[in-house]
Amino acid sequence: MDFLPLIKLLHQTKHVTVLTGAGISAESGIPTFRGKNGLWKKYRAEDLATPSAFNRDPKLIWEWYDWRRGLIAPVEPNPGHKVLARWEKIFSDFALITQNIDGLHWKAGSKNIVELHGNIWKMRCTEEETIIENFDSPLKEIPPRCPSCGALLRPHVVWFGESLSPSTIQKAFALSSQCEVMFVIGTSAIVQPAASLPLSAAEAGAKIVEINIDPTPLSPYADFSFKGKAGEILPLIDNELRKKP
Ligand code: APR
Repeated sequence: MDFLPLIKLLHQTKHVTVLTGAGISAESGIPTFRGKNGLWKKYRAEDLATPSAFNRDPKLIWEWYDWRRGLIAPVEPNPGHKVLARWEKIFSDFALITQNIDGLHWKAGSKNIVELHGNIWKMRCTEEETIIENFDSPLKEIPPRCPSCGALLRPHVVWFGESLSPSTIQKAFALSSQCEVMFVIGTSAIVQPAASLPLSAAEAGAKIVEINIDPTPLSPYADFSFKGKAGEILPLIDNELRKKP
């Protein structure tokens, strides 16, 4: 793989934005959604990740999120996550937008993160809308209840049929349309509005760098496409970047 043209560009770049999806956490052992053994291959999203499913049976939904938290709790960020945490310190203007709710970017040390779809370690009161951080795995109580008003708590994640918070999506589009280079890593680039972010970046003149084991609908628009695992390719790019220009 020839990284040189990209490295040359990155040495002249100040503003980098990165969009990640489930693929960046695959090498940490977390299943993706649509890949082989993906979550949506085994489970019906409409039965487990919609507001109506939650209203129908909050206990079932919380059992499923407790299971997913149990999968995520013991795993560590991989070299892909760690390179992005390092890049936050080397580029003067760096932003990380993630579709992932696993919290591994925080665990890797990234600070400037926009979580489009929420975070599995956060819960929200269905009455007061207050957000509570909770890392218990397994959960002590299913379904968990709000410590202040006793109402049902729900996972602080975005379910199908729900819209993203307007401030979050506004920030994500601003970070996309202001960057010079946008990395798109480990996403099937089909779920909206996230899938539109790279296109708005390209429209604003940014160079698009895609890293994925498979082609995606975004691939034809990418200026640089690296086919392979994020946890292997990001360290290779980073090694080249560390070399003096
Ligand atoms: N390195 C790079 N890419 C990878 C790797 C890897 N090690 N493993 C898998 N991929 C790629 C797959 O080829 C696929 O394109 O990651 C992508 C994962 O796609 P999805 O499973 O569709 O996940 P994502 O794009 O993050 O889904 C978007 O959909 O289900 C909802 O809310 C959920 O945030 C999620 C959203």
